[in-house]
Amino acid sequence: VAPSSEVVAFAPGRVNLIGDHTDYTGGLVLPMAVQLGTTVRFRPDPAARRIRFVSDSELEPADLPLVVSQPQSVTPGWARYVAGVMAEVGPPAGGKARISTTLPIGSGLSSSAALEVGVALALGFSGSAVELAMACQQAEQKASGVPCGVMDQLTSAGGVEGRALLIDCRSLDVEAVALPPECEIVAVHSGQARQLAGSEYAARRRDCERAAALVGHLADASVADVTRLRDPRLRRRARHVVTENQRVRDFAASLHAGDVAAAGEIMRASHASLRDDFEVSTPVLDALVDDVSSRPGVYGARLTGAGFGGCAVALTAPGALEVGWKLVPSRGAWVRGGGGRGGPIS
Ligand code: GLA
Repeated sequence: VAPSSEVVAFAPGRVNLIGDHTDYTGGLVLPMAVQLGTTVRFRPDPAARRIRFVSDSELEPADLPLVVSQPQSVTPGWARYVAGVMAEVGPPAGGKARISTTLPIGSGLSSSAALEVGVALALGFSGSAVELAMACQQAEQKASGVPCGVMDQLTSAGGVEGRALLIDCRSLDVEAVALPPECEIVAVHSGQARQLAGSEYAARRRDCERAAALVGHLADASVADVTRLRDPRLRRRARHVVTENQRVRDFAASLHAGDVAAAGEIMRASHASLRDDFEVSTPVLDALVDDVSSRPGVYGARLTGAGFGGCAVALTAPGALEVGWKLVPSRGAWVRGGGGRGGPIS
């Protein structure tokens, strides 16, 4: 690669319509890639052994060696995700990279997954969307210490224009699902930065693993199976996962039938389950979901992503909400430049 040939990669954020805290138990999720995302421009220099990253949204640049051993101790903090990706991808050459994003950062629209996927492609990752997502999931775990699932990275890598994605997180099969015409997807920020998200997330994941050790794979379990769990906390956690998987199936069927009212009801039920059984909502998010759900033309709303703050997502009639981000189902990540390598990934 000549020093002057620039590689440009773009990776979208995502909004999850339904299926939260199901991915890491091999369950179902139904997110979509969005039109907002992160662009990474990389100018490789074969003689350089470091990469200097500057970001339009961060004051401090990052100057990283090609071999990063401890991504989670890198400074500045934002560059940990970049360092995690470098540890996965092993870029062959140094150079300079510039990062810019149209995503709100740290708001539950997967700005970190978009950063990881964009950096991986710009630095020369080659492989399928699933391989890219799995490398970036590892990067996120190394960078943040949070044992996240694969939903965010797979949605960013494999998004389909005009479609949401029904993902089976055990097989990693992805089915593109059309949204009914005449509806909008709107994300509204609660104004609450996500707090304690890392440790609480890990605690929820541990609860699910304990429950699965007692009743078998939660993705295969029934409500009757999890009702037999003695520990009331594990019972609630597992009940959320089992009922949420069913809600994802029902939601996909409602979209298919064009029944937005039914889809909205299922979103409300999902929020209640995340609030009461999985305990990842906050009073601020609950109030926001109640408020948004009661507006004319709103079919349903729920928290989206990990919870503990961040955004709610609403399914609405066109123009019903005048706040937040109107999100459009969009294609997944792409890369161009870099001496012929690249193009859309599959
Ligand atoms: C975060 C994680 C995902 C997923 C959601 C909750 O976004 O990165 O893997 O677990 O929380 O559904």
